[in-house]
Amino acid sequence: MKRILVTGGTGYIGSHTIIELYKQDYEIDVIDNLVNSKIEVLDKIKEIAGKKPNFYEVDLLNYDALKKIFEENQYDLVIHFAGLKAVGESVEQPLRYYENNIGGTINLLKCMKAYGVKKIIFSSSATVYGEQPVAKLVETMPTGIGITNPYGETKHMIEEILKDIVESDPEFEVVILRYFNPVGNHESGLIGEDPKGIPNNLMPIIMKVARGEIKELSVFGDDYPTLDGTCLRDYIHVVDLAKGHVAAINGIKPGVSIYNLGTGKGTSVFEMIKAFEKASKKKLPYKVVGRRAGDLAEIYADPSKAERELGWKTELTVEDAMRDTITYLNNL
Ligand code: NAD
Ligand code: UFG
Repeated sequence: MKRILVTGGTGYIGSHTIIELYKQDYEIDVIDNLVNSKIEVLDKIKEIAGKKPNFYEVDLLNYDALKKIFEENQYDLVIHFAGLKAVGESVEQPLRYYENNIGGTINLLKCMKAYGVKKIIFSSSATVYGEQPVAKLVETMPTGIGITNPYGETKHMIEEILKDIVESDPEFEVVILRYFNPVGNHESGLIGEDPKGIPNNLMPIIMKVARGEIKELSVFGDDYPTLDGTCLRDYIHVVDLAKGHVAAINGIKPGVSIYNLGTGKGTSVFEMIKAFEKASKKKLPYKVVGRRAGDLAEIYADPSKAERELGWKTELTVEDAMRDTITYLNNL
């Protein structure tokens, strides 16, 4: 049986991925400092999957504690989710973001090198594409140009660090997964996205509006050159995304492999609102406000490389994500 270390494993995408990994019979250790997640998630994983990961409440910035974990355990592979991800916060606190995301990754990679663990899967983001002349994003496009916030910069810089590591040590096997917009949660509604503080992504805001914690959704612009005037994004069900990690483990090979994980289809903000209203059978209060700086009209993945090389493609829809979100909200 393979032993996997999952950083950020109590978080939103990490917890869903662990459930899919348990279906494949992996042994899992989790490192998380709980800055944006709760320890109770581990019990929920046990409820769903019948197994609970070993847990280390450790900050990746604490090199000595991290080293001790590698000293005491032999891992086959690391999945690296841990990082701060709030775009707005990263603009206000750039040093914290650079230190946490890049410093944490460097500590992790130093330990991996020191203890001979040479396989890593990294959570990157469509944000690394920056501004492109076309809406459909392909892995071969140049990255790092026109990124508008420190969060996005950290993702791009970490991708470059990983490429340099492979350059220096060809035995390293790196998979960079560029996520598009993860939404939804496990169908049980036991785990899901639970951001601390004020979120800035669409779905967490819709959820807070539905719960009455935010009065209404502000739709950022309805004058884009799209069918209904609102922006289009590629919303991927988090369970499909989680399965992408299992496929990535199966397909990992020496060198750097980069894959978009998305559906290949854009959905507008108005379509998201309608889908949520249909699933909840309630009106969602919203108002149209001005455009948000830096938003692009339309972005979606070309996911064909992941299908070709990893045999992975999405199976779930935005409607499935909305249904599962309602189940989760009813459980909160
Ligand atoms: P999340 O915040 O739910 O999970 C990240 C986890 O990392 C949290 O549990 C947090 O406590 C932990 N963490 C942060 N810094 C840490 C540190 N220094 N040491 C130990 N643990 C630390 O976020 P998520 O949505 O599950 O995202 C997982 C990864 O995917 C992140 O790297 C994120 O940037 C990336 N990503 C997310 C999205 C998205 O929209 N959710 C999109 C693209 C990429
Ligand atoms: N939106 C609103 N109102 C809101 C929030 C979002 O109308 O209150 C719209 C946005 O204008 C956009 C769509 O909903 O058209 C999705 O917005 P998100 O913020 O959820 O996601 P984005 O695709 O715009 O990307 C953002 C960051 C990226 C980051 C990504 C995933 O810009 O850097 O979230 O975390 F990678």
